[in-house]
Order: sequence, then structure tokens, then C-alpha cells
Amino acid sequence: MADDATLVAAARAARERAFAPYSKFKVGAALEAADGTIITGCNIENSTYGLTVCAERVAVFKAVSDGYRDFRRISVVADTKAPTPPCGPCRQILWEFCGDIDVILANLTEEKGRYRLKDLLPLPFDARLLG
Ligand code: THU
Repeated sequence: MADDATLVAAARAARERAFAPYSKFKVGAALEAADGTIITGCNIENSTYGLTVCAERVAVFKAVSDGYRDFRRISVVADTKAPTPPCGPCRQILWEFCGDIDVILANLTEEKGRYRLKDLLPLPFDARLLG
């Protein structure tokens, strides 16, 4: 299992690869699979704006596409003083594939907060409700 600093460093490195020419707001994410593999993502914007995909979802979709199904933690990094938490749709996608994982928020120099996903997404809709 990677230590927090390693996971956050991976998210910082992924952030450098963000495609964010419209917002200029670069975000990196690093997702740790159960076997310790770290899968990264960055935000990828689009000139239509609405097709933009957040760093967290890029990381989850890359990981799932590569066959990973069990996850332990995710780190999200932006160059902000306040922590940058996952947006609502990303919380839902994270819940679907990761369940109640640790979410570590950081900026370029320090860790800014640590949350459990269930606290960021109370009363989630998920497969259990489909019966
Ligand atoms: N963004 C992320 O990638 N993750 C977040 O947690 C917050 C927002 C991206 C989407 C968009 O490219 C830019 O940040 C500004 O909203």
C-alpha cells in the first residue's frame, strides 16, 4: 500500500497533464486499487464545455477499463488554498465503483483534508435500491 505522500504525488503529476485551456483549472487524481496499483487521471475539457470530464472520473474509467474493480483511496489535487472536493457526479461515480473509500484532498504543497466518501455522499442511490 502506497503512503499518502506517494498517492498525492501521483495526483500532482497527473494534474500536470490536465487539458484545461478553458477554465485553466487543472486537477489531478490518483486512485489506489486494492493490489496497490495507482491509476491516475486529469481533467479533460472540451470546446463545447459540457463534454468536460473531471480528473476523478477519468481515473475511475481508466481503472475499470483496465480491469480493476476494488479500490482503497483516491487523492485529488488542485492548485488552490481551499481543498477541491469531487463534484456531485464524480461522487456518484466513485460510489458506484469504489464504495466508501478515503478521499484525500491536497494542493501543490500540502494535504488539505481527508474524508470518507459516505460523508461526501450521504444517502446515495446505488444498485441495492434497484432490488
Ligand atoms: N474539475 C475536476 O476535474 N475535478 C474536481 O473535483 C472539480 C472540477 C475540473 C472540471 C473542469 O475542467 C475544471 O475543473 C473547472 O471546473
